[in-house]
Formats: sequence, C-alpha cells, structure tokens
Amino acid sequence: MKIEIRVLVNGREIDAAVKPNQTLLEWLRDDLRLRGSREGCGVGVCGSCTVLVDGRPVSSCLMLATNAEGKEIQTIEGLAPGDDLDPVQQAFLEHSAFQCGYCTSGMIMATKALMASNPKPTEEEVRDYLSGNICRCGTYQEVMAAIKSLCEKNA
Ligand code: FES
Ligand code: FES
Repeated sequence: MKIEIRVLVNGREIDAAVKPNQTLLEWLRDDLRLRGSREGCGVGVCGSCTVLVDGRPVSSCLMLATNAEGKEIQTIEGLAPGDDLDPVQQAFLEHSAFQCGYCTSGMIMATKALMASNPKPTEEEVRDYLSGNICRCGTYQEVMAAIKSLCEKNA
C-alpha cells in the first residue's frame, strides 16, 4: 500500500506515492536521489540528516514521508541559487569547517535555520542550537569560526 503526498521540495512541487513506513530521509535519498542529506545514526541523535521543514530544522530520519504532505522541504541541494554558494556554505568553505564532510550538510542546514531566526547568535546560543549536530571529525572550532564570520557580516 502506498500513500499519495504532495510536497514542495527545494521550490519544486512533487506528487509522489510513498510507503507508510518510509522516512523522509529515505524518500529524499532513495526516490528523489537527493543524497546530500546523510544517514548517520538513524535514530535522531547525530543531525547528519537535518533538512528544513517549513523553515525549521528536522531530523529527516525520524519523520515519516507521509508527514511531509503539504509541507515545504529544503535540502542542501536547494540552498545555492544557481552557481553561487549560499552564504552559510561559503563561510563553511572559507573556514574549512569540515573534514570528511559526512556531517556537513546537516550542520549547514541547522546553521541556516539558526541564522534565519537569530542573525547574531552568541557563542553559547550557537553551541546550544547545534548541540544535536555531531561531527566525528571534531571540526567544531572551524564551524564556530564560520558562524562567527556570518555574525560579523550581519553586524
Ligand atoms: S541520521 Fe538522523 S539524526 Fe542521525
Ligand atoms: S566533517 Fe567528518 S563528521 Fe563532520
């Protein structure tokens, strides 16, 4: 049995039939071939699968695709308009805020949501907001530097 959904993904309206137990992450990666969102833990702990749902960061491994019905999803693939990087992507690049890159799309999507709601967060607010995004390579200092540079641009 499949369930029909209509979802706006990266600005494109998509009609699809999904399995009742299919996660949003599985739908994005397996059906839509949007593989920038990664599965790390699969249980809502690591943040590598973070996407924006109606502008809010969500662990897509925990959300059923059926619950995306009528919602707007943004993934890392939808962040950069054309050939220009999004400012958050640019800041991560300039500060080498990644090593293997496995956590990076989730980190960037969470940072995007943070900066949208709080353009000049304190270091403590950044740490708190990103506490659900784990980097096994330990690039936290570089991530902080990237976000600090974004805050300075917003000053
Ligand atoms: S894979 Fe979703 S939180 Fe880890
Ligand atoms: S850059 Fe490797 S897990 Fe974060």
